[in-house]
Amino acid sequence: MSFGDFSGLVDPPLYIVTASAGGERSGCLVGFATQCSIHPPRFLVCLSVVNHTYRVAARAGVLGVHLLAADQHGLAAHFGERTSDEDDKFAGIAWHPGPHGAPLLDAARAAFEGRVVQRLPLGDHRGHLLEPLDETVTGAAAALRSQQSAGGPAGRQLRLQDAATLEAGHPADETAPGAGAG
Ligand SMILES: Cc1cc2nc3c(=O)[nH]c(=O)nc-3n(C[C@H](O)[C@H](O)[C@H](O)COP(=O)(O)O)c2cc1C
Repeated sequence: MSFGDFSGLVDPPLYIVTASAGGERSGCLVGFATQCSIHPPRFLVCLSVVNHTYRVAARAGVLGVHLLAADQHGLAAHFGERTSDEDDKFAGIAWHPGPHGAPLLDAARAAFEGRVVQRLPLGDHRGHLLEPLDETVTGAAAALRSQQSAGGPAGRQLRLQDAATLEAGHPADETAPGAGAG
């Protein structure tokens, strides 16, 4: 069994991560993301260096992190299969600027803004270590109620296996011009 086989068994939640800097907005679907510390609270978001979102996030002090319900496949496809290198993904999508400036998607099941406290070279992705800004958390109560309600897809969060047929706007084997590992 290879590491690829091992990874294929894992079914992490998917997020949409957004950023805004210099009048530019961006956002993409992210599976490489997790809370990684309790005290202090920290959340790690890994962005591929070939993504438009990475280039905007590199100039942003705060990122938006959105949790999706299992039936929000369309929203996941919108942010995971298209690239802002080609069009404005926010056109036609309801969003508002968060208290700290990250674009927040109105349809998300829950969201928070996180201040970037560290950027870490991690191979073809770059880690963005976030300090979650508590006062920005939205939707959590509604999401919890939905989770407690009987079992339908709206009660679950969207996970990688739900999105298995999506084709990333920037394929996994794409390399950034001039990029080395890390
Ligand atoms: C299921 C799935 C998971 C993904 N996970 C990540 C991820 O963890 N990090 C990342 O940077 N891109 C990830 N992507 C790829 C981006 O979402 C995708 O290439 C997107 O089109 C990039 O948009 P952008 O160029 O506008 O940033 C994933 C895509 C899919 C379909």
